[in-house]
Amino acid sequence: MGKKEKVHVQICVGTACFVQGGADLLLYNDFLDPAVLCSCEIEGVSCLGGCKDAQSKDRPPYVRIGEKVYGSVNQEKLCKLLAEATRA
Ligand code: FES
Repeated sequence: MGKKEKVHVQICVGTACFVQGGADLLLYNDFLDPAVLCSCEIEGVSCLGGCKDAQSKDRPPYVRIGEKVYGSVNQEKLCKLLAEATRA
């Protein structure tokens, strides 16, 4: 079986995101499935730019998964998104 590439995940820890729930997402070791965790490469980054988009209906915290940026992410949503991303 070929080795699958890891899913690249960036959790925004810029101020707007951090204070609006990003801090909870950094506890990912505690709430993500171990199988999901080993298929992902997760890092914290400062500002993905989403918080500066006045048109966006999404709110901080933002997370980038692969090429896509998601807003209004909470622990539950992150679990779901990563379960999907690592299954693909
Ligand atoms: S601080 Fe998170 S997108 Fe700007």
